[in-house]
Amino acid sequence: MVKVLHIDTSPRGERSHSRNLASEFVANWKNSYLDSTITYRDIGHQIIPPVSETWIAAAFSSPDTHTPELTTALQLSNELIDELVECDRYIFSVPMYNFGIPANFKAYIDQVCRVGRTFVVNQQGAYEGLLTGKKMLVITARGGSFPAGTPAANYDFQEPYIRTVFGLMGVTDIAFVNAENLAMKGEVREQSLQQAKEKLAQLITDWH
Ligand SMILES: Cc1cc2nc3c(=O)[nH]c(=O)nc-3n(C[C@H](O)[C@H](O)[C@H](O)COP(=O)(O)O)c2cc1C
Repeated sequence: MVKVLHIDTSPRGERSHSRNLASEFVANWKNSYLDSTITYRDIGHQIIPPVSETWIAAAFSSPDTHTPELTTALQLSNELIDELVECDRYIFSVPMYNFGIPANFKAYIDQVCRVGRTFVVNQQGAYEGLLTGKKMLVITARGGSFPAGTPAANYDFQEPYIRTVFGLMGVTDIAFVNAENLAMKGEVREQSLQQAKEKLAQLITDWH
């Protein structure tokens, strides 16, 4: 049985391209692999609090020493991390905002990227990720396009950032499907969406 964690991050609803592509992929996935379970979280519509001074004090001290206030500060973080630990596959749909990711998704990352829970620093001072054996699929939606090997690629802080920060947590097997040029009208946008759908259809078998 494969346990899938599906997270949408666009604040848009039905008009969100990343959300629509991910929901089609997950529906096809469920039809193809009937024994899969899907855990869903919509952080496009659930405000994730930024880390606070209390959160930091709690995250960098032993749980045995925690006051009720410190325990409460980590409650959501623990819940979000437990989902990542329990699931084997992650599907994230992510809009590009200002060449990066939406602020609320950054807040989510700050909640789950936690020493002792999702990564450790070993005796040599190197990072070791604790989310091992996972596979991740990131479906992005972008107004423009950032083709590898062109000057525009330097503006893409989204894919490299997600690869780096999830890599720190041990998730190194990451596939990206980037739906680009969505700010363009007509055929260009339709072709781009069609290409993304074709790549995702292929991944139903390749990603299993
Ligand atoms: C606040 C904001 C910032 C954006 N910044 C960028 C950007 O830096 N580069 C880009 O290609 N598109 C940018 N866009 C366009 C979105 O990436 C595009 O509309 C995408 O489809 C949004 O994802 P969604 O359809 O899943 O909501 C931006 C859109 C918004 C609302």
